[in-house]
Amino acid sequence: MIRPILKFGDTPLHEPAAEVGVLSDEIQKLIDDMIETMYAAPGIGLAAPQVGVPLRIFVVDLSFGRDAGGLKVFVNPVFLERDGVQLEEEGCLSVPGFNATVARPQRAVVKGRDRHGDECTVEGTDLLARAFQHEMDHLDGKLFLDRVRGIKRDLIVKKIRKLSRAGKW
Ligand code: NI
Repeated sequence: MIRPILKFGDTPLHEPAAEVGVLSDEIQKLIDDMIETMYAAPGIGLAAPQVGVPLRIFVVDLSFGRDAGGLKVFVNPVFLERDGVQLEEEGCLSVPGFNATVARPQRAVVKGRDRHGDECTVEGTDLLARAFQHEMDHLDGKLFLDRVRGIKRDLIVKKIRKLSRAGKW
């Protein structure tokens, strides 16, 4: 089931998410829905708070579902390592229509559980490292806009407020 994606300003996007306990049927359904919602958007990553569930789960697939091994599901992820710096344009399904350059680690190693509860560790470089960091931020109640400073951020927030007032956000 495709779930509605929350947008900048919706509370769950701006609050830290909680650790997942038992991987219940409800959690399995949530993960299925997150994958379906990500592919339908289409996007390369989605975190549970984006569909209004304040839990530490994210899904990433740089191949948009084209490669069998492309899908990564993380439950209660943490960073083991992060190094280097990359500067690229970034966007978010929860901030549609806006992009900004964000500094991210060039490499990131994430450890967490997969949807079966098995421990998994994945190393990402370049875009995958960026996606990991972006989705992890969602679990901490942060959007990429929170990593953009100054006039650029103010301009985007101002435009969103305007859209919001006009009922178009
Ligand atoms: Ni995002």
